[in-house]
Amino acid sequence: MEPSVPGIFEETRPRALELYREHVGPMWAKMLRTIGFDRQWVRGEGPYLWDADGLKYLDFMSGWGVFNFGRGHPVIRQALVDTLEAGLPNWAAFDTPPLAAALAEELTRLLPEGLERVYFCNSGAEATEAAIKFARAATGKQGMIHLGRAFHGLTTGALAVNGDLAFRDGFEPLLSPAVRVELNDYDGLERAFSAGDIALFIFEPIQGKGVYIPEDAFLRRAAELCREHGALLVCDEVQTGLGRTGRTFAFEWVEGLEPDIVLIAKALSGGYVPVGAMVTRRAIHDRMYTSMDQGMRHTCTFGMGDLAMAAGLASLRVLEEEHLAANAGRIGGIIREGLERMMPRFEFITEVRQRGLMIGIEFGEPRSIALRGAWATTHRISPDLFPQAVVIPLLDDHRILTQVAGHHMDVVKLLPPLNITEADAEWFLAGFERTMEALHSFPGPVWELMKKLGKHAVAARR
Ligand SMILES: Cc1ncc(COP(=O)(O)O)c(C=O)c1O
Repeated sequence: MEPSVPGIFEETRPRALELYREHVGPMWAKMLRTIGFDRQWVRGEGPYLWDADGLKYLDFMSGWGVFNFGRGHPVIRQALVDTLEAGLPNWAAFDTPPLAAALAEELTRLLPEGLERVYFCNSGAEATEAAIKFARAATGKQGMIHLGRAFHGLTTGALAVNGDLAFRDGFEPLLSPAVRVELNDYDGLERAFSAGDIALFIFEPIQGKGVYIPEDAFLRRAAELCREHGALLVCDEVQTGLGRTGRTFAFEWVEGLEPDIVLIAKALSGGYVPVGAMVTRRAIHDRMYTSMDQGMRHTCTFGMGDLAMAAGLASLRVLEEEHLAANAGRIGGIIREGLERMMPRFEFITEVRQRGLMIGIEFGEPRSIALRGAWATTHRISPDLFPQAVVIPLLDDHRILTQVAGHHMDVVKLLPPLNITEADAEWFLAGFERTMEALHSFPGPVWELMKKLGKHAVAARR
């Protein structure tokens, strides 16, 4: 009998962790086992996952933000089935693929006038790489300004505009000149531009690492400086785009902001097929492809594949027809209000940052002496340990999958699918409240777990 895909999945599942450890990533496998995240997931649908024991979980991570429309959305799934069954030519190479042309038309329709040319690729990092090259080609300048804590992908060009040293460490020198400006540091911004030779300023309208929201005035000033200095404003919507923040694109929250380049990826294909897109102005695009013999100057083999394009078209339809940006705004508001109601009772919570269904919960040093001691000890062991006291019990005790928002920060991030319901929000809020009650009781089981993880962390350093 021919092995079927479900057959291979089932046969391999019990030994997948071992195989993964052996052939893919031993450290990742070890980390998952250490924090108890080594579940065997067997099914996913909408915002839910099921483990091998048949237990249902609420997924508030969306596969790092690819499942804006939930897993297995019937409209997107059907578009893929139809594409496979239609026997389309796909990658005839010397062609102008109709599905890519249609998706480009749809994307540009969703964006402000003037953003009318699309370069398709396969990931967020590739979209960033494209932005760097297009900005250099268009301006004839080389310099790049990026923000502290910025994340635009991990290929070496994108790494040059990454604001987190933990990612860059060991790979310098990277593409240069690249200048880092801290978020909302107006003087730093002026200084960075005044150095001259700036091709681009790149930013996330909400930073994925830590869920930090730039001040509107800061982004407006960056846009003005770009105009003054002949640089391009590059808006990375890889995580924030396609309804996530309650608007189709998050830059729409800043009145009058007009990016020259917008980067899109992740949810564009509904989580099914790798995809990326860079949308820009005609004049910028024309400076990259200046003549017929320059037509291949920036390309990639797998960009514009029929499956990715069909999924993209279906995803945009779902986003609009199901009013998912509005739902993200409404349910996100319910979650924020629920969290804010809890804040007076739970002294570890210091701030909730929310736009739509991109939510960061920041924790800080508590006032009471016993909890302060626990906080200090945890941070002495590792600056990355504390948020585990939230995400581990949320998964173990309440079956809610969440993530730590970045290196060296006490922030937990929520990134659920945009079509979650009030009942899902209630599931999360109830689980989070119980988790906070446990966290605020010292000594207690959460702190025993922290002690155990702390020992692992110390042993791993030896
Ligand atoms: C804002 C942003 N830009 C770029 C990327 C890189 O995307 P990819 O992982 O598809 O390369 C990410 C990934 O998390 C992201 O959040």
